[in-house]
Amino acid sequence: MKPYLSIENLTQTFPDGAGGDLTVFENSSFGVEKGEFVVILGHSGCGKSTIMNILAGLAEPTSGVVVMDGQEVKGPSLDRGVVFQNYSLLPWLSTLKNVSFGVAARHPEWTKAQVAEHSTKFLAMVGLEGDVIRRKPSQLSGGMRQRVSIARAFANHPKLLLLDEPFGALDALTRGTIQDELLKIWGQMEQTVFMITHDIDEAILLADRILLMTNGPKARVAESVEITIPRPRYRTEIVEHPNYYAIRNHLVQFLGKRSKEMAGQQSEPGQSNRPTTVRIDKTDPQDDPEDKRPALRAVNS
Ligand SMILES: Nc1ncnc2c1ncn2[C@@H]1O[C@H](COP(=O)(O)OP(=O)(O)O)[C@@H](O)[C@H]1O
Ligand SMILES: [Mg+2]
Repeated sequence: MKPYLSIENLTQTFPDGAGGDLTVFENSSFGVEKGEFVVILGHSGCGKSTIMNILAGLAEPTSGVVVMDGQEVKGPSLDRGVVFQNYSLLPWLSTLKNVSFGVAARHPEWTKAQVAEHSTKFLAMVGLEGDVIRRKPSQLSGGMRQRVSIARAFANHPKLLLLDEPFGALDALTRGTIQDELLKIWGQMEQTVFMITHDIDEAILLADRILLMTNGPKARVAESVEITIPRPRYRTEIVEHPNYYAIRNHLVQFLGKRSKEMAGQQSEPGQSNRPTTVRIDKTDPQDDPEDKRPALRAVNS
């Protein structure tokens, strides 16, 4: 059976500005299950935002298709919510209105009071309560603005939530708080999330699965790394989990070394490029330390 979100043979080329073509990625295929939190990690310029824009329906790939819940993605839709790094709030609307206008569009049958109540609830979930929700975005800090855009995205409960480096511009403390809030809401919502980041620890904290991209041009999603750390996860506790540093080392090695070595390599030229599943689990009794087998088991999916 097809996954909930299915990316099939996606190819993107752009004019390279010198009369030729730049192939960003070629025949890339992968899937995301309903309710899954998938994070994509890769170096700058490998094509992460390009993939996200295609998933959002904001850009069309050169070839290939995206199918979500049985329907091909063509153009933007309220079914897919996007949070960008730069908040993209409407400056002339209050914080509350920035959330409620989308809610009202999604639920035309709701009364004004229902829309306001629903929006206020989601703002409270990200820690924005009281007078602050009457303020305009320009009167909020960067961290508060990003909270508004997260509340707005979750309040619409899209089938797919797309986050493009949403915390990239925030200081580490604020980022930590908002990550915790994001996890809390996600835990309550059964929301399918696809997120881009370049922060390894953020990826491990949040993801069910991390997709690793090789460097471009001709980048590909080379691996799908399962995060074998149970939820709920707390940043101070997960670092104690036996799998944490094993997974982290794998990711660091990939980004530091293998993403370059594998750059431009296709798994099989002209064929669909699917990521290899990587499962690292030190708590698995089958990973007997007496046994000389490596703890890393790669399974082709
Ligand atoms: N509209 C465009 N026209 C031409 N080249 C583009 C366009 N959008 C992105 N690119 C190029 O595609 C590559 C991938 O970009 P992007 O998806 O933004 O990378 P990432 O988000 O991983 O940093 C880069 O080399 C970038 O310059
Ligand atoms: Mg980007």
